[in-house]
Amino acid sequence: MSKNSLNKKVPTQKTKGWSGRFSEPVAELVKQYTASVNFDKRLAEFDIAGSIAHAQMLGAQGIITKKDLSAIVKGLNEILAEIQAGKFEWLLDLEDVHLNIEKRLTDKIGDAGKRLHTGRSRNDQVATDVRLWLRAVSDDVLTGISKLQTSILDLAEQHADTIMPGFTHLQVAQPVTFGHHLMAYFEMLKRDAERFADCRKRINKLPLGAVALAGTSYEINREIVAKTLGFDGVCENSLDAVSDRDFAIEFSASASVLMMHLSRFSEELILWSSPRFAFIDIADRFCTGSSIMPQKKNPDVPELVRGKTGRVYGHLVGLLTLMKGQPLAYNKDNQEDKEPLFDTADTVLITLEIYADMLRGISVNKANMRQAALEGFATATDLADYLVKKGMPFRDAHEVVAQAVKHAVKKGCDLADLPLEELQQFSSMIANDVYKMLTLEGSVASRNHIGGTAPTQVKQAIARARKILS
Ligand code: ARG
Repeated sequence: MSKNSLNKKVPTQKTKGWSGRFSEPVAELVKQYTASVNFDKRLAEFDIAGSIAHAQMLGAQGIITKKDLSAIVKGLNEILAEIQAGKFEWLLDLEDVHLNIEKRLTDKIGDAGKRLHTGRSRNDQVATDVRLWLRAVSDDVLTGISKLQTSILDLAEQHADTIMPGFTHLQVAQPVTFGHHLMAYFEMLKRDAERFADCRKRINKLPLGAVALAGTSYEINREIVAKTLGFDGVCENSLDAVSDRDFAIEFSASASVLMMHLSRFSEELILWSSPRFAFIDIADRFCTGSSIMPQKKNPDVPELVRGKTGRVYGHLVGLLTLMKGQPLAYNKDNQEDKEPLFDTADTVLITLEIYADMLRGISVNKANMRQAALEGFATATDLADYLVKKGMPFRDAHEVVAQAVKHAVKKGCDLADLPLEELQQFSSMIANDVYKMLTLEGSVASRNHIGGTAPTQVKQAIARARKILS
């Protein structure tokens, strides 16, 4: 291709980039139905970055002239500034973010602007934009998770030896430390971060060069574009590159699991802050009152986290359903990936931020937690373990303790409140040293192995966790 032929005049572009073969304008309602600019304009910054990288490659390969290249880069940077200043006029007539920017470029720089789309299609362009955007979002999510983890560690550190009842079936089971309980959420978030980081690897591949579906006859260099845009490599099949949104689905799945964890945590905060439990108090700035009941202080933030988890799951199912019936390659259905994905990102990011702050506003009622741990025979397993260590088979010990618990229930007291003679009625193996096993402190301290609830273990777990975060 000679340099001159690159600059040959072509007929002026009509309003849209594709209206040439049509004999009547698109119906007004159809325009509204098919346009995505109202929501995909948030991809603008990434669209421009992708366009600049593409143009630079076209220039480097001699597909466009250096002169056109510099006009394109200058024009696109000016458009970016207009958008950032809120001065850009988005037109529904121009359908989407891509055509809006391209048309503005052409208005500004003429024919050079019309050469930008050489060796490119909106199909690989949009897939690139979404990946660039989602990569940035993934990094923000990872930062958000790590900030929340820090809040958890700070609270867990203050409560490494605060005793509370541990529950199974929401019945008091065994005493645990509050720090240990909180560290369970640290672990969940650690896996969530791993999921997002892993998903990011698959997001970070370049679709550009796939063009509409089959690649292009121009001598493009996809690797340069990938490098300029910070991608780890190129999507290796053009049909796949323009059509699949599995990376978005994976992100939504990771977001769903993260929200599921935060929803469980929220459920606990709601229960614990209810006067029935009265384990914690959530700072007023995270609660609201009732317009009719003056005494109420409602834990709105955790309730909404629990509620918003539903919409994030919904988006995941929406995206899965969006993909399932699509033949290769690109179909307009894929335009529907954006709103659920954007809403998922917005929901997750704001939730992480608010949660980290909310945990800093939690005060703990240690006395109530301790009292609750005393109420459900939480040390019954410790008594059984005590007998086993004296030689009794575990199943027999289980039965002996069950009888002792039955007796204590009848008397309306705790196991630790039974005098030695009464305990000895259930087994002669019981001696005075039993009482230190029956205390809450003795019980938690004895679970002194990695993953156990002993305060020393909790402190070590926190120290390991701080290292991961640093
Ligand atoms: N707005 C479209 C989307 O979000 C861009 C790609 C459109 N491509 C096409 N050939 N209509 O998917």
